[in-house]
Amino acid sequence: MVREFGAFRVASLGISFALSWHAATSFAPSSAHIRPHSLLRSIAEPADGGGSVVGPAPPAFASAGRRTAVAALIAASALPPPSLASVPALVAPKPSDAMKNALVFGGSRPFPLASFGLQVYNDDTAYKLTLTALETGFRNFFASVLAGNQRGFARAVKDSKIPRSELYICGTVLSNRERGYDAALAKTKQGCAENMAAMAAGGIDHLDMIMLDYPGPDSASIRGQWRAFEQMKSEGTVDDLAVSNFSAAQLDSILGDPDAKFRPTVNQLPFSLAYHPTGLLEYNAERGIHVQSWSPLSRVLGKYGKDLAAIGKKYNKSAAQVGLRWIVQSGASFTTQTKSMSHFEEDLNVFDFELSKEDFDQLLKITDTSL
Ligand SMILES: NC(=O)c1ccc[n+]([C@@H]2O[C@H](COP(=O)([O-])OP(=O)(O)OC[C@H]3O[C@@H](n4cnc5c(N)ncnc54)[C@H](OP(=O)(O)O)[C@@H]3O)[C@@H](O)[C@H]2O)c1
Repeated sequence: MVREFGAFRVASLGISFALSWHAATSFAPSSAHIRPHSLLRSIAEPADGGGSVVGPAPPAFASAGRRTAVAALIAASALPPPSLASVPALVAPKPSDAMKNALVFGGSRPFPLASFGLQVYNDDTAYKLTLTALETGFRNFFASVLAGNQRGFARAVKDSKIPRSELYICGTVLSNRERGYDAALAKTKQGCAENMAAMAAGGIDHLDMIMLDYPGPDSASIRGQWRAFEQMKSEGTVDDLAVSNFSAAQLDSILGDPDAKFRPTVNQLPFSLAYHPTGLLEYNAERGIHVQSWSPLSRVLGKYGKDLAAIGKKYNKSAAQVGLRWIVQSGASFTTQTKSMSHFEEDLNVFDFELSKEDFDQLLKITDTSL
């Protein structure tokens, strides 16, 4: 089934979901801004680009320094491929319904609502976990440059033998420290090229999405960042252009640029039962931009795990599945990570049930609207 979703079409398995009653009614207009938490700030130092930069404190990429991760990305070209003997066999990956639960942004393939977002670990671990995710049916991948393991990810894609046309792959660029249009444009172009160099390790010569990890320090810098993305799209190397950790004002730096040719499709933000401030979804929806949640679970399970598990019993679902389902029913999607095959399976299996209005409201009552 394909549904209209603001500017997007939503394909679902035939149950009503995504922009349900709740999303339509509960998010009042607001000027809320997004502020990456302090750990992120200490590493990537997002600056104010016309709107304050916010932050809950969901744990971000593991504590390894982000600059180190970027340096590791460049150095990783020298790494040998991981030993095949040490990874799970990918004999017959399960047929995947991932593309049925997806949004269509206009690129060559749909954007599945469930994404595996690689964390900071080495190429070997990235290789193994990507194969595991593929095996369980994940088809949307968030391979950030900040995780420092795009080569391991790309090699797993190649070795899985799953056709590239069945996958949605997102890379990222970190260029938020450059001030001014020209400097931001040059740094972002360099980042785009580095993504393609890393992805080439797995024969990937086209990305479905490229995402800015953070907004530049002011409007001119953001416009320079965006111009580089537009050039990449015009060259045919990427389909969908996206941002992360952008406030409303920062989005408007792009949307208000008379020279901009393409709009952001996605704003990846912290959004979960542990952090759902009023207005967060709304300021994106008003601009026709879809929210993909980062850290959909890590702050949720420790604090609310028992409550979610109690609700999940009614549906024969786990606490994590309830937390992810709540995100989807709110109208967002998610990128999550795990090191466990059974958790990969659970995290993908959230499209065959629907939380009742009573349970959805109960979850809103017991959880934080902000931190
Ligand atoms: N754009 C940004 O600024 C930004 C910032 C931070 C993160 N991110 C992206 O977002 C991704 C996810 O965020 P995150 O790293 O905070 O992780 P998360 O997905 O919110 O939570 C992961 C934690 O949940 C557990 N988990 C996952 N599935 C589970 C299940 N079914 N049952 C029980 N436990 C489960 C995992 O443990 P197990 O391993 O035991 O399953 C892990 O401890 C990152 O990998 C990264 O790609 C982006």
